[in-house]
Amino acid sequence: MESTLKHQNLTTLINRELTQLALPEEPSQLYDPVRYTLNLGGKRTRPLFTLISCGMCNGDPEEAVPAALAIELLHNFTLLHDDIMDAADTRRGEPSVFKKWDSSTAILSGDVMYAYAFKQLQYYGGSDLYSKQQYATIMDIFLESAETVCEGQAFDLEYSDRIDVSIDEYLKMIRGKTAALISGSLMLGGAVAGVEQRELERLREIGRETGTAFQIQDDLLDVIADPSKFGKTPGGDIMEGKKTYLSILALEEGNRKQQKFIQEVLSSKDNAEEEIVEVIQLYEALGVVEKTKKTIEKHYTKAVALLDRFPDSDFKDDLITYFNKLKKREF
Ligand code: IPE
Ligand code: IPE
Ligand code: MG
Ligand code: MG
Ligand code: MG
Repeated sequence: MESTLKHQNLTTLINRELTQLALPEEPSQLYDPVRYTLNLGGKRTRPLFTLISCGMCNGDPEEAVPAALAIELLHNFTLLHDDIMDAADTRRGEPSVFKKWDSSTAILSGDVMYAYAFKQLQYYGGSDLYSKQQYATIMDIFLESAETVCEGQAFDLEYSDRIDVSIDEYLKMIRGKTAALISGSLMLGGAVAGVEQRELERLREIGRETGTAFQIQDDLLDVIADPSKFGKTPGGDIMEGKKTYLSILALEEGNRKQQKFIQEVLSSKDNAEEEIVEVIQLYEALGVVEKTKKTIEKHYTKAVALLDRFPDSDFKDDLITYFNKLKKREF
């Protein structure tokens, strides 16, 4: 299995399992948005990390499939709610669920995905292959990830109403809203493989660096991505006054006049298209885009260095290959 299960095959496996989830037909108002969301795809980064991590820890990746599905369901649940919070009209190139249906629908369909995530994890409670302790560890990792994502999202909301957010505060926010789930994905793979707590902590750290890079890159893409490939509305973060790696750096680097302009645009909810473009041009002119690219690279490099603590394997190589693919992502 080790030499054939490269990440493309694993992604195919995840997609197949996700579309085969036994979802009831009714109420269609509840399950249609779930089917819609799962069928729109997405990169499947988190479930892939779970499967690869399990293999890297000497486990059988197929055993990690329920955990991988659980983490992808949790992720998709957060997206449905996040789009309401961020007033984001598009997701994965199509109308977001609350736009296509309405907010009540997106809240409820998100909730049911969370329930389905737990249903997946029940496999580990019912199988003889896993001790009570191992099942408890799997649940702990999942719950801690979910809890920390909510904390990160709360900081995200709080910071939207503030103009003086520091880089340290920003890092605390993204370690919550994004890195926690990436750490959780990797740790779940390790937990299914049955590794010790010490290894789980190593996976957490790798996820923290990867997730930090991933969110800073998400912030960057919101500013520089090709709109036809991005799948979300570019400039959405500026429109919504989100505190991103770029907005914080720009406020540090800009002169008084530039700072004032950026703050005004970020604080207003009805900006003209030209104002958004002007802020983006400022990010470029102030060297913020270049600096951001360097920071992303730095965090991916750290993640790869931390992988040294795991024995060489095809799975580890595959993870590094996937990191390199992520670095070049356009959505
Ligand atoms: C979007 O995650 C939310 C963030 C944490 C930035 P992804 O970029 O992984 O979204 P999909 O699943 O590939 O659509
Ligand atoms: C991602 O933050 C965090 C979660 C969805 C939990 P963003 O709000 O930046 O994600 P996108 O850009 O909408 O995908
Ligand atoms: Mg969002
Ligand atoms: Mg958000
Ligand atoms: Mg974003």
